[in-house]
Amino acid sequence: MDFEDAGSDIVSVVVTAEQIAEGLARMAREIEADLSGKRPLMVGVLKGAVMVMADLARELTIDVEMDWMAVSSYGRSTKSSGVVRILKDLDSSLEGRHVLIVEDIVDSGVTLSWLLENFASRGAASIRVASLLRKPDAMSVDVPIDYLGFDIPNEFVVGYGLDFAERYRNLKGVGVLNPSVYSDGA
Ligand code: PRP
Repeated sequence: MDFEDAGSDIVSVVVTAEQIAEGLARMAREIEADLSGKRPLMVGVLKGAVMVMADLARELTIDVEMDWMAVSSYGRSTKSSGVVRILKDLDSSLEGRHVLIVEDIVDSGVTLSWLLENFASRGAASIRVASLLRKPDAMSVDVPIDYLGFDIPNEFVVGYGLDFAERYRNLKGVGVLNPSVYSDGA
């Protein structure tokens, strides 16, 4: 889905599909430099990270494995409380593995902070983080991101995995959602 297909639902473009591809290529070169020969385990955080995982993994020139984790906070309003629960755990052991957590966005930082703490007890050789997007002005927890695509403004963005009520994940780029979409219950 392109921005024009979304009509007036997208009020401004934040990151284009071309910029995403460039960002992922830059991140991939950095990851290769650090993890070549280590067969990292990429851990995608469902559902938003599906697009990043698919494109970043294919951009990499090194051998990787992939696994998936699904987590949920107890509702948006309580997200800053840091209450996160596992909906789907990893299939793989992290023992001795070089782990690369793959995220679409770090917003408050709560999810990533919790994941890093959770993974730290599982015996990984190393844990790194790749996120396509970060909202510096929204972060309530300071979390390290080793490979970052873009810092973006603290606005309600959708696309490339990011949703509003499960919609717009399939937009090729990332854009600001028209407030009318979420204020009129559409
Ligand atoms: C999004 C995103 C991150 C998290 C970041 O997931 O994919 O996992 O929020 O937010 P935080 O930094 O404030 O914790 P979401 O919970 O919306 O689920 P989804 O990926 O299934 O859309």
